[in-house]
Amino acid sequence: MKKRFATTLLATLIATSAQAYQAGDFLLRAGPAGVLPTGDSDDTGLGAGTKVEAQDAWSLGITFTYMATDNIGVGVLAAWPFTHDIDGAGTISSVGTVGETKHLPPTVTVQYHFDSGSNLHPYVGAGLNYTYFFDEKTKGALAGESLSLDSSWGLAGEIGVDYDLQNDWLLGAQLFYIDIDTKAKVSGAAGNFDVEIDPWVVMFSVGKKF
Ligand code: NI
Repeated sequence: MKKRFATTLLATLIATSAQAYQAGDFLLRAGPAGVLPTGDSDDTGLGAGTKVEAQDAWSLGITFTYMATDNIGVGVLAAWPFTHDIDGAGTISSVGTVGETKHLPPTVTVQYHFDSGSNLHPYVGAGLNYTYFFDEKTKGALAGESLSLDSSWGLAGEIGVDYDLQNDWLLGAQLFYIDIDTKAKVSGAAGNFDVEIDPWVVMFSVGKKF
């Protein structure tokens, strides 16, 4: 019984025929997305070598692609807000978490979709990101100070792949690199300083073609 169920499930999941995307197709995907920062800040006003850095954050990502031609798509990355801890780094890496921020990083890319002749739909993309920070808080060693982070405009690159399932369902994986730089404004001695966030954004999704 279990075996028959598994066989039926497998048959349902595996598409019968490979079909390239076509102009007018609309692809919607949703799943876990991680924003994994690679950068840190310039020195804060607390002294040479005193830095902060944003930590990894996961949330619900939503992406869609509109195929303008059979190969060229316009992609949008949207998400539920990400919440990052901001930790001490450099000479103050021992202080732990000193702040927190939420952000939304909407990103628009132009994608080139390769026609692989199989159930796999690989693509590459490049475009523009806008990141809006909100609900900034201080804690730990900076508790009691105010914190605000400027919005960021930057370039974004992307690679991705969709895998066809039955009935226009698909599995997706996407990897973005996004240039996100902000200015932190902290009351008190820490003062104002630039912060490089420059994250990898990785997303795994289930989607559907309309
Ligand atoms: Ni940068």
